Amino acid sequence: MAPLKTVLYLGLCLSVWIITTADVNVLSKVEGVHWVSLDFKTILNWTATAANDTYTVLYSEDGREWNESPDCIRVSESECDLSSYLEFFNRTFTADIVTEPVTMDYEYGLEDLPHTYSLPFNPYTGSNISAVKFTVEALDDGRIIVNITDPLTSIHRRGKQLSIRDVLKNDLKYKISYYKSGSTGKRDIISDSSMAEVSKLDAGQRYCFMVAAFIPSRPKATRQGPWSIQQCTPRDSNVVEELSTGAWVGIVFILLTVLIIIITVTVLCCRCCQQRNKSLHSSQSSAPI
Ligand SMILES: *[C@@H]1O[C@H](CO)[C@@H](O)[C@H](O)[C@H]1NC(C)=O
Ligand SMILES: *[C@@H]1O[C@H](CO)[C@@H](O)[C@H](O)[C@H]1NC(C)=O
Repeated sequence: MAPLKTVLYLGLCLSVWIITTADVNVLSKVEGVHWVSLDFKTILNWTATAANDTYTVLYSEDGREWNESPDCIRVSESECDLSSYLEFFNRTFTADIVTEPVTMDYEYGLEDLPHTYSLPFNPYTGSNISAVKFTVEALDDGRIIVNITDPLTSIHRRGKQLSIRDVLKNDLKYKISYYKSGSTGKRDIISDSSMAEVSKLDAGQRYCFMVAAFIPSRPKATRQGPWSIQQCTPRDSNVVEELSTGAWVGIVFILLTVLIIIITVTVLCCRCCQQRNKSLHSSQSSAPI
């Protein structure tokens, strides 16, 4: 009796195993896993290879234990925003995308399911930085203040939205490129802070500026952000010259007005005179003799 029971159990186990593995075997690994990261908003993307599968994303910091990403458990999308979990920025993370069946009516271990691993990614050195916004303001004749707004990240800490300066701190520099309008020579300066003074400029000249985030501690590929849109100072920062330009326009306008009035008055007067002469003439001629 005992051997029969054993055989029965074995058979049962085998069939359960076959059913389970059969189900698991139809699951396929995802493809094209890659990181997209801008201003420390870091998203893992992949391409689904079968409809109706779901995915769970695990991540590991510097090769330590695997954690489930709380927002990406059995999701049907093919992306996962990991920004808030890659908390210690200057670490290397690896992600693992596990393909799971939609139906969960049996027990299985994660290790039985198809896994696809990402390449390691360090947001601190690998996240792209967007083009920055800035203003230029004349301080005096030869000096300009470039005021740069640090791009914001999507990360919040203690109710505050962090800027890239909060993350990169002193590693963040800005490259400022400028030229005098009409000349081809460009000059570059590197500023440690988000507020830079550019000096030794020629008074009364128009200067144009461009700014890019610059992180010298990074590898070459991600060291520099894209250049911003160019901002220029007005040509005449000299108030007297600006006023005289305004005055010239005024003078020309007044002269034109006076001229038009004179012409109009003259024409009207002439017509009046002619008419009066005519009526005088006719009244004279019609007068009885
Ligand atoms: C950063 O930008 C470059 C150029 O657009 C792109 O090729 C690269 O994939 C981006 N890297 C990340 C991590 O988003
Ligand atoms: C620099 O720009 C920021 C944001 O536009 C502004 O709040 C700040 O007052 C500016 N600083 C100066 C000195 O112009």
